[in-house]
Amino acid sequence: MSIDYSEKIPNNVDLAGDRKLQRALESWQPNFINWWKTMGPAVPTEDVYLRTAVDVGREGWAQFGHVAMEEYRWGVFLSEHNADRKIAFGEQKGQPVWQQVPGEFRAELQRLIVIQGDTEPASVEQQRRLGETAPSLYDLRNLFQVNVEEGRHLWAMVYLLHAYFGRNGREEAEALLQRNSGDLDSPRILGAFNEETPDWLSFFMFTYFTDRDGKYQLGTLKESAFDPLSRTCEFMLKEEAHHMFVGTTGIDRVVTRTAELMREHDTDDIAPHGGIPLDVIQKYVNFHYSVSLDLFGSEKSTNAANYFTAGLKGRWQEERRKDDHVLTEDAAHVDLVRDGVVTTEEVSALVALNHDLRNEYVQDCATGMKRWNRVLEKAGLDHRLSLPHVGFNREVGLFSGHHVTPKGDVVGPDVWEASKDRWLPTEADKVHVQSLMRPVYEPGKIAGWIAPPTNGINDKPFEYEYVHFA
Ligand SMILES: [Fe+2]
Ligand SMILES: [Fe+2]
Repeated sequence: MSIDYSEKIPNNVDLAGDRKLQRALESWQPNFINWWKTMGPAVPTEDVYLRTAVDVGREGWAQFGHVAMEEYRWGVFLSEHNADRKIAFGEQKGQPVWQQVPGEFRAELQRLIVIQGDTEPASVEQQRRLGETAPSLYDLRNLFQVNVEEGRHLWAMVYLLHAYFGRNGREEAEALLQRNSGDLDSPRILGAFNEETPDWLSFFMFTYFTDRDGKYQLGTLKESAFDPLSRTCEFMLKEEAHHMFVGTTGIDRVVTRTAELMREHDTDDIAPHGGIPLDVIQKYVNFHYSVSLDLFGSEKSTNAANYFTAGLKGRWQEERRKDDHVLTEDAAHVDLVRDGVVTTEEVSALVALNHDLRNEYVQDCATGMKRWNRVLEKAGLDHRLSLPHVGFNREVGLFSGHHVTPKGDVVGPDVWEASKDRWLPTEADKVHVQSLMRPVYEPGKIAGWIAPPTNGINDKPFEYEYVHFA
């Protein structure tokens, strides 16, 4: 079904055919707009060159144009329905997927949707003030694109809550607008979503590392036996790809500029020359990677096992895995600290599913390192960036409570205290990065700490007026 744009809420779920649901969502809509106005982007704009979803098919799913952000067509889009889809894993493997929520899994499914839904507006809140210091109009536009789409992802989850979870679901949908990132009384659910995104280096790190966690979580929900959830997540993944592009190319450009300045001034200490030193970039990598690893939950998890067995959450690319997709007979290894060293333990594969997902994510993250190291290599520099050990700076899971260095050595609290300023951003590092954050709003101009992009958006040049200010 194509998207009906004549509706107040654009959708491809035949909202018009369900008056009660339509009315419920239409009464949530003004609250959402109100949230967007108070917690969304702080820079006043007239219009922004944005991509809007117009179809869910393979081709031409989006259109580009200048739109006033408050009038962005947030809607409800599910990927195409496959009438033959069967459950791919767990106890009910081979059975038809569910079009309704089975009573026995109601609470768990609602919880999974609420947790996913909570992250979407959280990131918009975290990034609220970033527009005030955008390094270029191109970057400002990308920030806003990510923001409107995270807003749409909230719609995606709210639709599921309203359509399938009754009154309880509607209450949870309200609560998604009431919790706020970093709020002392009612914070967002997950730790990383209560951290600040105070500068653009953090934003690029967030879109590289934390949005990528989102990609993997959505990937597991896309496998879900609950078909509306699966179809919702499949379409969200399409939008999510751009968010990761923003992170990857953003860090590319920071590293490129850093390398240029290092060559030009023949020094590692490029801070006085208006650049971000490579060791500061490394510390930001260490921080954002480690807090994003925490989002995968504990390496050993009976919840993860239960979700899988029940068919609620699969593995990354479940159908491409070459095993029985039930896993009751399989074993896996998880990393942990024992007797003061990092080692592994054999556990049931079902219990190690968070670890399995985290491993997929780690491999994906490593591709960025390769890219950025290629930039350094091309610039003729010997310096290299690297991912810290998975046990580094962890607060969730089997490594929490241990101090693990970026190289993977377990150390005591005194060594940790004495060394952590070499591994994680210090106040001085943050102050320096912050000092570079000055808005550059002139079309075609770029801040001094970052290189321009190689291409514009949708074949437009870098000089294009992506944003008109109010
Ligand atoms: Fe999202
Ligand atoms: Fe995202």
